[in-house]
Amino acid sequence: MLNVIICGAPGCGKGTQSELIVEKYKLKHLSTGNLLRKEMAEKTELGVQAESFISKGSLVPDQMIIDMLTKAIDANEESENGIILDGFPRTVEQAEALEKMLADRNKETTVLLDLQVENRELINRLLKRGETSGRSDDNMETIKKRLQVYETKTAPVSDFYKKLGKYSGVNGMGTIDEIFGRIAEILDAKK
Ligand code: AP5
Ligand code: MG
Repeated sequence: MLNVIICGAPGCGKGTQSELIVEKYKLKHLSTGNLLRKEMAEKTELGVQAESFISKGSLVPDQMIIDMLTKAIDANEESENGIILDGFPRTVEQAEALEKMLADRNKETTVLLDLQVENRELINRLLKRGETSGRSDDNMETIKKRLQVYETKTAPVSDFYKKLGKYSGVNGMGTIDEIFGRIAEILDAKK
């Protein structure tokens, strides 16, 4: 079983690489960003609350996210090959909650993949995606805020997994296939 976390700054390619990982390793993809956008589209109570945070580039409060993700994990009984968590955990509090949640289910994180991309490239990718994505957070002002929030709140999650010996940094610059090749090398060694 592979329980993989893919993390990194906004626009680093978490969603893009998750699709390729799912295809090759048959993991269940759980993206907190996608789950939240679905709630927003359906105008649920959670979606309406989340929208105000997301459009400003802030994080949605930890407890809302932890509850939503716990439900999603428990709803995914078909994930016997494992899961790929995209965009979660994004704070040390979320990382602690995740490790406890998995331990309660006799599971553990296999590895955290940290996609490393230069800020200039991140901004270019997100502005380009914003031309067609319709995402309320793909604009210059919100992108800058998301990058700041990443540095202060999410970067410390890497240290948490380094201490557990589960951290793998991945060069996220280059073509999508080149980056996937680097990821597959790491995951093949963990299978
Ligand atoms: P989320 O949806 O997770 O957004 P994000 O972290 O800002 O990341 P993105 O989805 O924008 O980028 P990505 O890394 O997936 O890159 P992608 O593959 O699309 O979260 C959105 C918001 O929800 C957060 O700001 C927060 O408010 C809230 N939220 C979510 N999770 C939360 C949590 N756990 N706690 C609290 N709040 C939470 O690639 C980007 C673009 O680049 C694409 O157009 C792609 O085609 C292109 N691209 C990809 N790879 C390459 C490449 N190698 N070369 C050129 N282009 C590329
Ligand atoms: Mg994404």
